[in-house]
Amino acid sequence: MAIDSRREALLRHTFIDFMQTAEFLRHPLIFERAEGLHYWDIEGRRYFDAIGGIFVACLGHGHPRVLEALREQAGRMAFAPPLHGISDITLDFIERLGGVAPGNLKFVKPFSGGSESTEAAMKFARQYFKQTGRPGKYKFISRYHGYHGGTGAAMAASGTGPRKTKFEPHMGGFLKVFPPNHYRRYFSDWDECNRFAARALEDVIIHEDPDTVAGFLVEPVGNTGGIITPTVEYFRMIREICDRHDVMLIFDEVITGFGKTGSMFAAQTLGVTPDIICCGKGLSNGVFPIGAMIAREDMADAFYGSAEQNLQFAHGHTFAGNPLAAAVGMAVIGTIVEEQLDLRARRMGDYLASRLERLKEYGVVREVRGRGILRGVELVKDTNSMAPYPELGTALKRIAVEQGVILRVDPSWFAVSPALVASQADIDEMCDLIEQCLAQALDAVQVRAVSSRGGE
Ligand SMILES: Cc1ncc(COP(=O)(O)O)c(C=O)c1O
Repeated sequence: MAIDSRREALLRHTFIDFMQTAEFLRHPLIFERAEGLHYWDIEGRRYFDAIGGIFVACLGHGHPRVLEALREQAGRMAFAPPLHGISDITLDFIERLGGVAPGNLKFVKPFSGGSESTEAAMKFARQYFKQTGRPGKYKFISRYHGYHGGTGAAMAASGTGPRKTKFEPHMGGFLKVFPPNHYRRYFSDWDECNRFAARALEDVIIHEDPDTVAGFLVEPVGNTGGIITPTVEYFRMIREICDRHDVMLIFDEVITGFGKTGSMFAAQTLGVTPDIICCGKGLSNGVFPIGAMIAREDMADAFYGSAEQNLQFAHGHTFAGNPLAAAVGMAVIGTIVEEQLDLRARRMGDYLASRLERLKEYGVVREVRGRGILRGVELVKDTNSMAPYPELGTALKRIAVEQGVILRVDPSWFAVSPALVASQADIDEMCDLIEQCLAQALDAVQVRAVSSRGGE
């Protein structure tokens, strides 16, 4: 894409997330509009959105029911100050979200995105323990490769290497364990990797002193690190471990929530109910910023008392739970429930996985992972050495944009998560494009490797 001097100057006055501006200016991408499963750039070129924005546009861009809900609410009331009261539609939203959450997760606090939700969940857990006679429980354990947001505690809980080390030192009280895939080189059996990873969590809790550990924060399917997909047994084990040591199990479902794994929440797909769920992204369909923390109903009792007791959750954000966000969230949940889009994601997800499995023919795919419509492909130099193949991913990312498909590539794996409404024909179109791009990327890196060896 060619850009004019004004746009180029403006791009130097801002930054694109996690990207070098100089690099972006070599291959700029400026979107102009979006509809359904596609974007169009300022030159009118069409792109297949294989990742729902970024795990966000779960009903497809510009979904009419969601847009109408926003318009209708904007005409009635766009803002109600959360410091003075609450809007009636926000109460409706609390009922709606609590109604689709698993178990007795009914205590809902809406926010404006994922980071606010994970940040709040950790504060909530700490205050909960202070008010229930266990004030020493303050530490959080999370996982290497996990990402929980860009704010203070969310970043401290993230395990994303250079993305977080730039801002160190982080606040104290944050510890990490490895996700199961880290142990693949030590165990030939995937189930055993999972068992070992779960047992390692218990070891850390015990050695830290359970009386100091407040929570374990985990993405059920971990995006960063390559759609890390532990076994159901892993989750059953960590649930038992958290129960044994009175540690809050907090699921970060910012990506996995709202149908993608084949149920409204991954917790339901896995059959394990956490103490708190954090959500965001898909709940908005990209129409208005929204996130939420959903906690066990009985935890709320610890925050209920007289004015003198002053037990309320000492937390708030100006835009949290605003009426526009609530209206959008209601429309998104309503559409998923009424059109059974979670079940559709399960069905289409199986088809998507079978299409991605075919990429193994190229000899550079180690695994296709994920649940439902949320899938990832791990790229390796060859399937004997299993060495990661970042050069291939880097070439794939560039070629995919050139060929008109938007993926999440990082750089030895790529993820896809098309909207829940994607048809089999849409998935075929997307997978054909991906295959074409992978073949071209492979040619490009192999040609480069040969020429850097002086030609062979
Ligand atoms: C798993 C997970 N948690 C939390 C966040 C933070 O959400 P937000 O960017 O809406 O603050 C993200 C964002 O990518 C995420 O992927």
